[in-house]
Amino acid sequence: MMSEENGTPLLRVRNLGTGYGDLRVVWDVSLDVRPGRLTVLLGRNGAGKTTTLRAVSGLNKAVAGTVELDGRDVTRLAPHQRVRLGMAYVQEGKRVFHRQTVEQNLLLGGYTLKMRRAALREEIQRIYELFPVLGEKRGLLAGSMSGGQQQMLAIGQALMARPKLLLLDEPSGGLAPAIVSEVMERIGQLKETGLGILLVEQAVEASVRVADQVAVIDMGRVVVSASADEVDDLGVLRDAYFGRGGREAASG
Ligand SMILES: Nc1ncnc2c1ncn2[C@@H]1O[C@H](COP(=O)(O)OP(=O)(O)OP(=O)(O)O)[C@@H](O)[C@H]1O
Ligand SMILES: [Mg+2]
Repeated sequence: MMSEENGTPLLRVRNLGTGYGDLRVVWDVSLDVRPGRLTVLLGRNGAGKTTTLRAVSGLNKAVAGTVELDGRDVTRLAPHQRVRLGMAYVQEGKRVFHRQTVEQNLLLGGYTLKMRRAALREEIQRIYELFPVLGEKRGLLAGSMSGGQQQMLAIGQALMARPKLLLLDEPSGGLAPAIVSEVMERIGQLKETGLGILLVEQAVEASVRVADQVAVIDMGRVVVSASADEVDDLGVLRDAYFGRGGREAASG
């Protein structure tokens, strides 16, 4: 089972602390992501989820703790160096270029990486296999697609870099509830490529369903860390979000 897996995790975060200038908002975050596995980071609004991802990616400076990628300490590396080592980050509310086609959006994802033409073609084909709807709509304007499809395109853009680790911040944000599960399932399928995924979400049930590990953050500290099997009944999460009283109220 997941909790008993050993070996070096792809991402290893220990006792991370970070914030904005003198304002500290993340106090103690530890979590792992293994290759081909998904760790979901849950928590209320303002808990520090986005700030944690920013520190993992290097956009925010760590003032405490460590971030290791594939056994290598990257805590002091700049964001572009972490990208080169295999990290990709799809930020909260990431928008695609509405007035460009689906394929042009993917090409743009590759141009910024200075990829060669043949490699670009190969990557784009791979993305179409992962997200068939993008292949079907390759010639259409990105703005003509649904919110869920645009989110898949944003993820596809990030995958152009062939990352080992994908950081996703609330891909369900702004989507109709009916398509949240679909987007989560698609994200879950990306694990089959060997990719490790750190997913930040507010959509608890749909994200835990595709997760291997679950961490809950509250006021900048991890308060629950467990395998997804262990939080199957979601009661553990309810406690973490609302306290024990919340669980009793909900079950009685
Ligand atoms: N640029 C910033 N400057 C100063 N404080 C910030 C900044 N961004 C976020 N914060 C503060 O840091 C804390 C954590 O915010 P963060 O965005 O990490 O939360 P979150 O868990 O991602 O919330 P949400 O679910 O609403 O996206 C909040 O108190 C927030 O007000
Ligand atoms: Mg956020």
